[in-house]
Amino acid sequence: MKARILTILTVVALTVMYVGGASNAFAYNETGWTGAGICGVTCHISGVGIPGVNYGPHGGYSSGTKVCKVCHTLHDAPTSNSLLLGETVKAACQVCHDGTAGRGVYGAIAQRGLPVGGQHKIETTSMVPGGSASTGGSVPMAFSGPNSTLTCSDCHSPHAKNCVTPFLGERQRMPEGGLYPVGTSNRLLKQRPGGVTTAVAEYGSDWCLACHQGRSSSLPAVMNHPVEASATVAAPYNYRRLGIIGPGPYPTSETTIGAAGINTQFSSYNRAYLMPFPRTDAQAGHLPICQQCHEDERYVGDLTASGTQATPSESTATFLPVGGDGRNAADNPRFQNFPHEAQGFRMLVEADTTAQTDDLCLNCHPQAGLP
Ligand code: HEC
Ligand code: HEC
Ligand code: HEC
Ligand code: HEC
Ligand code: HEC
Ligand code: HEC
Repeated sequence: MKARILTILTVVALTVMYVGGASNAFAYNETGWTGAGICGVTCHISGVGIPGVNYGPHGGYSSGTKVCKVCHTLHDAPTSNSLLLGETVKAACQVCHDGTAGRGVYGAIAQRGLPVGGQHKIETTSMVPGGSASTGGSVPMAFSGPNSTLTCSDCHSPHAKNCVTPFLGERQRMPEGGLYPVGTSNRLLKQRPGGVTTAVAEYGSDWCLACHQGRSSSLPAVMNHPVEASATVAAPYNYRRLGIIGPGPYPTSETTIGAAGINTQFSSYNRAYLMPFPRTDAQAGHLPICQQCHEDERYVGDLTASGTQATPSESTATFLPVGGDGRNAADNPRFQNFPHEAQGFRMLVEADTTAQTDDLCLNCHPQAGLP
């Protein structure tokens, strides 16, 4: 087995050399670029017909690319699992996306010595909390990890096939040449997470509901907080297109349609988490999507005392070597790992590590507006 791992590392290290923020397993070091100029040939290639978007070895395959072999072996595979080089899907992914030094989608919080408040554990469980539409309780799903446990490929397509509409994300944790680019991509998110039968084209509530069926607010037998989804609203808002707070100056009662990941530049505002009351313009008649309550933990800002205006907080992301991946405690949000793991209880955007707080509710239900 050791020999096998060494072979994998040697093959991949030679062909990949440097794999951006997505990875750590190779010649990347925290102070800079140590690749040998072939980075763009093998892995950091623009994929799937979207110029400028890096899908790495995920798709965009042609007769000239040489990437199947970074994940598959044709002979002598360690298990019967899709001829993967790794023992499991997780192992295959972590050849590149590992959390060493706290740079992976998993492991960054623990690396900074902090407790993980909520997470989607990998290859540990097949029970989906809130998975039952009839009881609201937990039900098992047949996932792709060992013993049907949840693994990376239940949410992501390794070959970038049948993915959701590309969306502007807020992530600034994939450095290239020291910068943290933000971008519009599909994050390889499957339209059928967990292998469900009904495809979901947009990343938003409906995508989460594919597995968490018992968290819909349109069920006859289970009561949940109202959520914007295709079962409750025609043409529902989603992560890409949402009623957000206007561009300011703040405080403001202005709302507009924009992306939840709007807070992506060097210093912008967390504009997707507050709803002034009475509801205004773009938010009136709409309900929150899951990601307005469940996201990386941060201070989102506040409504004014009357509740009629909003002051979103500044979102900040400092760069290596000062910040990135939670190094800088002042970054807001500090970590960018949702929905893999988060500091907040139940991955709530505002919460302690172990409990929900009223801070979350007051973002949309100001005290002055309560009956
Ligand atoms: C980034 C890693 C990665 C790369 C690169 C990759 N694959 Fe895969 N492939 C996987 C994983 C993981 C699975 C298992 C999928 C699942 O669990 O849903 C898989 C499954 C497959 C399957 C289905 C096997 C089965 O059990 O039915 C085929 C066929 C396949 N890959 C072919 C290819 C080819 C051809 C290429 C190159 C053009 C390629 N793959 C590149 C990771 C990869
Ligand atoms: C492929 C199926 C699947 C999808 C899609 C999915 N989840 Fe989950 N979710 C699970 C499973 C399985 C667990 C249990 C994980 C565990 O025990 O670590 C879980 C757990 C959770 C938890 C509880 C976490 C905790 O620490 O207690 C929350 C909250 C959650 N999911 C929210 C979401 C949201 C929001 C989305 C959409 C962005 C989403 N999930 C998408 C399967 C899924
Ligand atoms: C429950 C579903 C789910 C599971 C399981 C999951 N992911 Fe993700 N992943 C997501 C979503 C959703 C995003 C996009 C989040 C965003 O941009 O707001 C994402 C984004 C990413 C990204 C790109 C953005 C970033 O932050 O770097 C990488 C890389 C990634 N996932 C790797 C993995 C790996 C590796 C595993 C398994 C060890 C895994 N994911 C398991 C849902 C999942
Ligand atoms: C050989 C190295 C390698 C392996 C193995 C690998 N990846 Fe990647 N992955 C990359 C690179 C490189 C990128 C692009 C990063 C960049 O250029 O910014 C990437 C990007 C991603 C993204 C983000 C795509 C986007 O839209 O931004 C996700 C999600 C992801 N990988 C998931 C996975 C999963 C799941 C697996 C296992 C099935 C896996 N990767 C295996 C190298 C790898
Ligand atoms: C208005 C805020 C809000 C929205 C919107 C929201 N949640 Fe939650 N969610 C919470 C809070 C607060 C908790 C923790 C308290 C609890 O467990 O009841 C939680 C807990 C959870 C849990 C873990 C505990 C359990 O009983 O299932 C899951 C899973 C979950 N939510 C999924 C979702 C999904 C999926 C969506 C979108 C369809 C969603 N939530 C929308 C606030 C919200
Ligand atoms: C992102 C905004 C947002 C957050 C955060 C939020 N809510 Fe709501 N909530 C709404 C909206 C929108 C409605 C629909 C009615 C309205 O516009 O007030 C609603 C409705 C409700 C209702 C009425 C449900 C019904 O069936 O009539 C209750 C009760 C409620 N929320 C409680 C809470 C509690 C408690 C919290 C904190 C855990 C919370 N909400 C967090 C936006 C939010």
